Amino acid sequence: MTATLSADAMKRAAAQAALDHVAHGMRLGLGTGSTAAHFVDLLGARVRDGLEVVGVPTSERTRLQAEGLGIKLSTLDETPELDLTIDGADEFDASLRLIKGGGGALLREKIVAAASMRMFVIADATKEVGTLGAFPLPVEIDRFGARSTRLHIERVVRGLGLIGTITQRLSAPDTPYVTDGGHFILDCAFGAIDAPEALSERLYAIPGVVDHGLFIGLATAIFIAGAGGVRIIGDVTGGPA
Ligand code: A5P
Repeated sequence: MTATLSADAMKRAAAQAALDHVAHGMRLGLGTGSTAAHFVDLLGARVRDGLEVVGVPTSERTRLQAEGLGIKLSTLDETPELDLTIDGADEFDASLRLIKGGGGALLREKIVAAASMRMFVIADATKEVGTLGAFPLPVEIDRFGARSTRLHIERVVRGLGLIGTITQRLSAPDTPYVTDGGHFILDCAFGAIDAPEALSERLYAIPGVVDHGLFIGLATAIFIAGAGGVRIIGDVTGGPA
């Protein structure tokens, strides 16, 4: 119980530190997950106090939360370019590469992050890894031809020397999880991913793959909350390298 509370407090501390960089008038991408939910909650309090921002949510979950807090919302159709996206991650490395999608919102998260000048990741220190891959990589696939796509993924990753299990995500026993975009997710436990760029390219080349949870070249800064406070890696002022 204590450990859970402590992890939660760290997520909130990272969210608070990122919120300090939010300024009046900003167009914000609002991430998904338990850490991002802390950010949205804290942002809601600032909005109640008079801060004016517009948010583009990365999931229906986040949209409902932000709406409930009175945060002004938009879509990428109305607001196609954003100043800053704040989101969580399932894993990150020292090169600001991420695995995301544990919460199932990876496609919208990536579209929103790519529409933003900057992306801040907020996380507790347990998410930091030397090599990505301890967290199973979520791969979002079209429902059409799902079995065939899965076999294709297995062939491709074998060719890269990655071995592991691929599991279709379920929302209940025998009920596939379906994303906000109407797709399936395969959770791919490959272990250490030594060449995430190569894996990313190979996965994108498979027709049934809609997207995957490797976020490369998108995060500009990571706010890492640990017992000693919040540490930042990357650049809080600049855009993607
Ligand atoms: C949602 O699809 C994910 O990318 C989340 O951002 C990520 O899983 C982090 O979630 P937590 O903050 O709940 O760990």
